[in-house]
Amino acid sequence: MTLATRASARNALPDFVDLSTASGDTTAEILAGLNATPRCINPKFFYDSHGSALFERITALPEYYPTRTERGILKAFSRQIAQATGTRRVLIEPGAGSCEKVRLLLPTMQPAAYVPTDIAGDFLHASAEKLRSEFPWLPVTAIQADFTALTAMPESLPAGPRCLFYPGSTLGNFQRDEAQAFLCQAATLIGAGGTLLIGIDLHKETATLEAAYNDSAGITADFNLNILRHLNQLLPANFDLRAFRHVAHYNEAEKRIEMHLESRKAQQVDCADITITLDAGERLLTEYSCKYTRDDFALLADAAGLTVRHCWQDPAGMFAVFCLAPSGT
Ligand code: AVI
Repeated sequence: MTLATRASARNALPDFVDLSTASGDTTAEILAGLNATPRCINPKFFYDSHGSALFERITALPEYYPTRTERGILKAFSRQIAQATGTRRVLIEPGAGSCEKVRLLLPTMQPAAYVPTDIAGDFLHASAEKLRSEFPWLPVTAIQADFTALTAMPESLPAGPRCLFYPGSTLGNFQRDEAQAFLCQAATLIGAGGTLLIGIDLHKETATLEAAYNDSAGITADFNLNILRHLNQLLPANFDLRAFRHVAHYNEAEKRIEMHLESRKAQQVDCADITITLDAGERLLTEYSCKYTRDDFALLADAAGLTVRHCWQDPAGMFAVFCLAPSGT
């Protein structure tokens, strides 16, 4: 683990802390997934620079309602949200990326400090600097780290009650046991007196969900296929993107979108030092996007030691933003 802190010049620049682990055994992790039953690729490999740009385009698609719906909730209820979380908090955002949504909360929450974390260091650094210039009153400490692997925050973090902000229904990309582990970690990190503000996509009719992951412009298909291009660079491998097809469907029993890449033909692919053989029609699982009812989510949170204090949603009940606190506090 490396630790490099760049001090702010008279507080005009964000502090930057690098807590990223060395690349480790990425190859072994990818190969284990490709050899598993069913074959799978961790969705974190969607996000190279091209994948991140494609995801930004997805968020603006007419069929992809979660981003604009959540933004609408944050805007409409920003005062009530600030009352529930408290003001002058140390506001921590895992996977902050472009730090876009937090802008909607800053005027009412007036945090004592903002701590965006992201695995993509350069992107994070640029976003934190931009935010710092737009909100000169706000101390910013950007942390480059995989939040799920982060066991403790750096000691240099400002003291004071914390609020963890986790928008976008990113929790849905974890399987349920991983989601519970993430919420436990969040409860420990905020501690007594802290709050978690989290955006969750709600269970709804299949047609709306399937349209959101099968957009007519084909951007989600490109986003899905791009994971193979990324693997070609990382391993290296020789996936031919034209030999796969994007598939996304809603599994109603499990309440989750399941996204796959389906092999259009029988084929062999060289991946690092192994060759995998795929049948025609065989699928690689690339993403789950779990949807929750309000009650399901409250139960999951309860199992992680968190209690729902407030919930805001859009008039059509598509998406919800929850404020939680450690149980018994
Ligand atoms: C990042 N995450 C919450 C998105 C989702 O909706 O599960 C990723 C995504 N996959 C396809 N479209 C969007």
